[in-house]
Amino acid sequence: MTLLALVLAYLLGSIPAGAWVAHGRGVDIRKVGSGNTGATNVARAVGTGAGLTVAAFDALKGVLAVLLARIFVQDPIIETVCGALAVLGHNFSVFLRFRGGKGVATSLGTVIAINPLVGLSALVIGGSCIALTRFVSAGSIVGAVATSVLALVVGAPVWELGVILFLSALLIWQHRDNMKRLQAGSERRLGEKIQA
Ligand code: G3P
Repeated sequence: MTLLALVLAYLLGSIPAGAWVAHGRGVDIRKVGSGNTGATNVARAVGTGAGLTVAAFDALKGVLAVLLARIFVQDPIIETVCGALAVLGHNFSVFLRFRGGKGVATSLGTVIAINPLVGLSALVIGGSCIALTRFVSAGSIVGAVATSVLALVVGAPVWELGVILFLSALLIWQHRDNMKRLQAGSERRLGEKIQA
């Protein structure tokens, strides 16, 4: 049952909602904007409604991976590992030749499912940063750092802390091009549309 939960978590995370939603609207999301399959790029290239749909679905992948493990395996360590596997599936999808998104929404869903206080607080902090700067990438990085700091502050169990630190580091690494663009002043702000 544990192995099944781990494999299912990775496959669930691998579902490329952004690529499929964009494809349905005639857009190859890997070839437009940032090339990211996540909600921000889908909103940019296809529209706000499509972006919000993808954000919700991607977050749900993290939540479901944790909840399925909680129901069928009942081991808190396996639960957190399943959440991390959903994020790895999202970023390195078996359906996209091991490429994909940056893991923002799926990490958020995972952290909310494993530690609601940390996840929802980070959502407020990251969301406020996006509202103030209109840079989704900056808010995502700030939110990721917030999850690690908050997990330490609330004294999260060591396995949760380990997974949250790993997910934060992975998210920051995935945003290395965004950080260069932020430094260069060429990062697109939320709401800027592109011609797909
Ligand atoms: O959804 C990830 C976000 O933080 C940045 O996305 O497309 O601007 O690289 P993007």
